[in-house]
Amino acid sequence: MAFQPKITAFVCNWCTYTGADLAGTSRLQMAPEVRIIRLPCTGRIDPLFVIKAFERGADGVIVSGCHPADCHYNSGNYHARRRFAIFRDLLDFVGLDPRRVIFSWVSASEGGKWRDIVDSAAATIRELGPCRADTGDEGRGRLACAS
Ligand code: FES
Repeated sequence: MAFQPKITAFVCNWCTYTGADLAGTSRLQMAPEVRIIRLPCTGRIDPLFVIKAFERGADGVIVSGCHPADCHYNSGNYHARRRFAIFRDLLDFVGLDPRRVIFSWVSASEGGKWRDIVDSAAATIRELGPCRADTGDEGRGRLACAS
């Protein structure tokens, strides 16, 4: 049976979630492997959420929110952008290919862009293969993926 990746998407309520909803109500065809977790703002997305998603079986993660200058809390997305720029560098250290974490901006009117991100993420993760989080004894090991 072909590998079907599990992709967790952490999205902000105001832009990307609405854009993803628009993609759905517009009946756009897209990869079915993404599960969305809605949060108030990308500024609320702690990198530990991403690590936890991998520990719980995700093969890839999408983080997406409002475009720069559109954040409903003014600067949450700027904080998120800085946080994830550093976090990507740490992914390799914990044994994860940085290509498994996709950061994007999607507005409420960009259902088509959301579909493209989902399809692209699914294709990338399928190519990378499964990610089996190996946290070792008592959770003190490293995260490790097949790629
Ligand atoms: Fe969307 Fe802040 S409200 S990123």
